[in-house]
Amino acid sequence: MPDGPKTLFPTGVAGLDTLLGGGIPPRQTLIITGNPGSGKTVLCSQIAFLAAARGVSVVLASLTSEPHDKLLEALSGFAFFRREFVGEQVFLISAYTALQKGAEEARDLLLGTVVERSARLLFIDDLRSIRDLWRDEAKVRELIYELGIGLALARCVGLLTTAYPVDHLMALPEATNTDGIVSLSFNSHGLRRLRRAEVIKVRGRAHLTGSHPFEIGSEGIRIIPRLEALTPSDDLDSPPDNARAAFGVPELDALMGGGLPAGSATMLAGSMGIGKTLFSSHFALEGARKGEKALFVSFFEGLGPIVTRAQRIGLDLQPAVSSGALRFLYLPPTDVEADVLIDRVLAEIARMRARRLVIDGVGILELSIADADRRQVFLAALSVRLRRAGVTTVFTKEVPKVAGTELDFSDTPIAILGENLLLLRYVELRGRIHRILSVLKMRDSGYESDLREFEITDRGIRVLGPLRSVHGLLTGHTRPVESTAWEETS
Ligand SMILES: Nc1ncnc2c1ncn2[C@@H]1O[C@H](COP(=O)(O)OP(=O)(O)OP(=O)(O)O)[C@@H](O)[C@H]1O
Ligand SMILES: [Mg+2]
Repeated sequence: MPDGPKTLFPTGVAGLDTLLGGGIPPRQTLIITGNPGSGKTVLCSQIAFLAAARGVSVVLASLTSEPHDKLLEALSGFAFFRREFVGEQVFLISAYTALQKGAEEARDLLLGTVVERSARLLFIDDLRSIRDLWRDEAKVRELIYELGIGLALARCVGLLTTAYPVDHLMALPEATNTDGIVSLSFNSHGLRRLRRAEVIKVRGRAHLTGSHPFEIGSEGIRIIPRLEALTPSDDLDSPPDNARAAFGVPELDALMGGGLPAGSATMLAGSMGIGKTLFSSHFALEGARKGEKALFVSFFEGLGPIVTRAQRIGLDLQPAVSSGALRFLYLPPTDVEADVLIDRVLAEIARMRARRLVIDGVGILELSIADADRRQVFLAALSVRLRRAGVTTVFTKEVPKVAGTELDFSDTPIAILGENLLLLRYVELRGRIHRILSVLKMRDSGYESDLREFEITDRGIRVLGPLRSVHGLLTGHTRPVESTAWEETS
């Protein structure tokens, strides 16, 4: 009878079971390979201690002459580690002396202990030491093979760590002989060093392919499956929702037929300092006031400066923050990958049941997507996720090219994806700087594409009437057609 998913051995490591297609299939032995410091020992120890916490009997075998203290010391900082399990649920042995005697002795010791302890998990750390000791590839291979068979008979799952680069491992016979291979890497990517996990194979099961970012923290290892890997392609046929998410700036909302289409993604692009954060604060606060909880994610500044600046234009964010209807998440730029950042954002959206999201400075998010050719697909997957979560999103983006006759969005994947596009910019006219806004694109709905001047004063954001008779306002090169450059209708 085939083994159903119920008999899978859960690793309990965040993300790993998803990668494995549910868990480790029964009686299988996995090789965990990776460069030094990639996290092999932490990962397998985490699986071992989490299993022990479920009452599973585990054997942890080291293959060096080193005492176990060093390993236990290294693990003691992790939340999964429980010293009281050591010696009982997690039984430690050293196979070093047996290995010195020979392959048969080592095999008998390891399998004998598994049977004696009725263990359901054997973790051997790490096979490099056997290679160094024996210097005999064929002998090592035979041991791995026999362990695999013995463990399957004992209904025990095996975890063996090695340090082979994956390409090298794949060329070796053990790649064919073992049931599964998981690769961890810790490689430099520009100035960053990124951790990635990949399930190369699991015998007889569909698993998630490709490499996925992971983190090591005090909880242990947390794998974040790539955003697009778990995002279904969107059903574009879904009927447009007529609900609107207003900014609370009446003239702007009027241009858009009442606000942004609910569930859509908008790019609010504009020059530096023009008011992108204030407009998006307005959007978030308006949601919070109308019962649509809002999450404001900032890559540039914390809550303090944003609240203070909003205060100056009479926008009081504090009550909504205090009530929990508006939440700020400050994610200062780090080496962390976009998947990890967005994982936090999506978790927070789910936790607080947010209906609105602001990502202030999407350029930083784009840069944190390490592979440039992945940026578009990542942001597309993000838009799908947010729409499915019923969230209306505003991404702000600084447009660097203010001069020139063309608006250059070519390096801005979100602009291509953003269903709605709002542009804020400065223009100079007769020696005075004006702020203008315009709606350049909107999903499934009509909009007014007028250029509007707007003001930011201590009474708030005020959008003035349409501008006429001025060519080139969008490009920043204005040229009055008649002697009167402006005609303000309000
Ligand atoms: N408390 C912690 N918080 C965050 N990272 C940690 C913590 N403890 C250890 N690490 C990271 O874990 C990594 C070590 O992982 P581990 O010892 O599992 O690697 P390994 O693949 O077994 O290496 P080796 O090949 O040397 O045996 C280090 O890169 C270290 O930065
Ligand atoms: Mg190790």
